[in-house]
Amino acid sequence: MRKYFIAGNWKMNGSVDLLNKMHNALSELPVQGSNVTAGVFTPFIFVQHAAEIFKASPIVVGAQDCHWMSSGAFTGEISPTMLIEIGATHVILGHSEIRRDQGDSDSRIGEKAAAALNAGLTPIICVGESLAERNSDSTIRIVTQQLDEIIKASTKPLTNSVLAYEPIWAIGTGLAATPDQVQEVHSAIKEHLFDNHNLQLLVLYGGSVTAANAGEIFACPSVDGALVGGASLKPTEFSGIVLSAISAAQR
Ligand code: 13P
Repeated sequence: MRKYFIAGNWKMNGSVDLLNKMHNALSELPVQGSNVTAGVFTPFIFVQHAAEIFKASPIVVGAQDCHWMSSGAFTGEISPTMLIEIGATHVILGHSEIRRDQGDSDSRIGEKAAAALNAGLTPIICVGESLAERNSDSTIRIVTQQLDEIIKASTKPLTNSVLAYEPIWAIGTGLAATPDQVQEVHSAIKEHLFDNHNLQLLVLYGGSVTAANAGEIFACPSVDGALVGGASLKPTEFSGIVLSAISAAQR
């Protein structure tokens, strides 16, 4: 039976009311024992509340970033140990919006991954190419280069991590990569990780995933789930994606 991971990245959206609605919607689903892990990744301010709401459920809770140190003079920052203390189990790292807005480099992402793993969090590490990079046929080179840099900078093996392939041009555009494009990159990533780093990780796809296209994406042999943005803010839509993974896991 294949394993799938569905992560909802709320970005800077949501509310306590949405958490309650999401909890109600997800509790209707047969997630327990399904080989599917589903999680909500809220803004920092809601993580503790989310952890309390989902405490008795199989749904995991995470944040969208963390610092590379466990404490210190870093005004405005949140450390991985703090996230653990309030009940998070996962953290998204290296999202293209954080690379763009906060200047995170691959080596910084590697440092954050090591800190997260040391604290006991499972990082979901994002890589992906821009439209210009795809149009110049550099996708595989860019993505494997990002992975190599991240792995080099992490003082901890990334064995207990998850990866997410998120082509920047597919994020929030309604223009998801085609199943063929996704499969090509995912299989290249897996081959590269296994051959060069002896790593076998789940690789999620992110970029305009909806309940309508999730099925064809999950049918790709090298796709292990999705990192969902916009659709993770709509309880019915997100539930549809999780259900689609549950049926894909049964095949
Ligand atoms: P969308 O699903 O809104 O395209 O966002 C994808 C994403 O960035 C998830 O991290």
